[in-house]
Amino acid sequence: MNGVLKLQIVPIQVDTVLQGKPSPFDLFDQGGYLLLEKGEAVSAQVFELACKKEIYVVSYEWSELAGRKQSVDFKDDQFQKAPLKHIRYNSHFIRIDYLKQALPILARSLQDLERCHGFPGFSWLDNHDRYTYIHSVNVALLATIIGIYLGYEIEELTNLASGAVLHDWGKLLVPREILHKPSALSPEEFQVIKSHPVRGEQVLRDAGWPDEVLRVIREHHERWGGQGYPDGLRAGEIHPNAQIVAVADVFDALTEDRPYKVGLSPYHALEMILNGSGLSYAPEVVRAWRSCVLLYPEHSTVTLNSGETGVVIALASDLPTRPVVRIIADRQGRPVQGEKIIDLRKNRTLTVNSITFDRNSGSRPEFNPSA
Ligand SMILES: [Fe+2]
Repeated sequence: MNGVLKLQIVPIQVDTVLQGKPSPFDLFDQGGYLLLEKGEAVSAQVFELACKKEIYVVSYEWSELAGRKQSVDFKDDQFQKAPLKHIRYNSHFIRIDYLKQALPILARSLQDLERCHGFPGFSWLDNHDRYTYIHSVNVALLATIIGIYLGYEIEELTNLASGAVLHDWGKLLVPREILHKPSALSPEEFQVIKSHPVRGEQVLRDAGWPDEVLRVIREHHERWGGQGYPDGLRAGEIHPNAQIVAVADVFDALTEDRPYKVGLSPYHALEMILNGSGLSYAPEVVRAWRSCVLLYPEHSTVTLNSGETGVVIALASDLPTRPVVRIIADRQGRPVQGEKIIDLRKNRTLTVNSITFDRNSGSRPEFNPSA
C-alpha cells in the first residue's frame, strides 16, 4: 500500500438507482446511517430521497491530509542529539502537520529548561533514571501536539511542554528499588509512589517554577470523575495543562515497552483512552488526541477477531477505530483469492484485534508498538 485512502460519503447521482431495482451500492443518509444494502430493491421512499439528493454513497479516495507530502527529517542534527533522539513517535503515527509544528517548540522548551537555574541537566536525568527521562520527553511531545490542536499560543505551549517534561520529577525522589520494582507493590510501596506529584511540586516550588508548571506536576494523576490523586479534584477543577498531560502520560505509558511488559498497540491504547473520556479524562482533550493520531498508518496490517488478516485501505474520520480492510489471508493464514473488502463501520460484529506495522518503513526504529 502506498498511502492511506479516505472514506467519504458523497451524494449519489440520481440516475444510478431505479425504483424497484436492486441498488448497485450501499446507500446512506447524510449522517452516514446505512439505509439500504447493495443488492436490495430501491424502495419508493429511498428513491424519493435520491431525487432530492439526500442519498449518499461511500467513496474511497486517497487522503491528502494537510502536509502529508511534507516530511520531518529525523536525520537532521537536532534529532541525533539528546533529548530529541529519544522521541518514539513519528509521522507514521502522528499527523505530520502537528508533528512539524510541535517539534521545534519542544526543542526550544527543552533548551530553555536545560539553561534553567537549578535544573541538573538531561544527561544527569538520563543517568539517574533513563525510563522517566525518555517517558517525560515523549509525554512532552504528545502534550505539545494536543496543545497545538487546542489552539494554544506559543507561550502557553512552552509552559505546557515544561510542565510535561517535569511532570514526574517527584519520581526522582522515590527509591529506585520501589520505582522500578518488577513485581507487585505492597500497599505501603504504592503509597510512596503515589506521593510523587506532591513531592515533585514541593521541590520545584522551592526552585521558583511558575504555578502553571507546578499544577501539572501536582495534578497529572487527578482524574476527570474525581477518582484521581492527590487531591481528588474533578473536571474543571483540574488545570487544563494537567488534563492534557494526563492523557499524554497514560498513552505513552501504555504503549511503552518495559523489561517486564510489552507495550500495547497505539490502537488499544487509544481505545482505552476513548473509553475513559468523561470518566477519567477530559472529553475535549481525548477528542483532540484522537484527531492528531493516524491510527492505521501506511503499511499497517490488521488481524480481525474473525482471525482474518488484512490491509487497511480506508478510514472514516468519524469512526477512526473502524477502518475498511482488504482481506489478504483467511483465519488459517491461507491467501485469499479474489478481492474481499470488509468495512468495519458496517460490520459491527468484527473488530480489530491487533495491528502490525512495517517496521522497515519507519524512520525512527525506537518506535516499536507491539500488536
Ligand atoms: Fe506521574
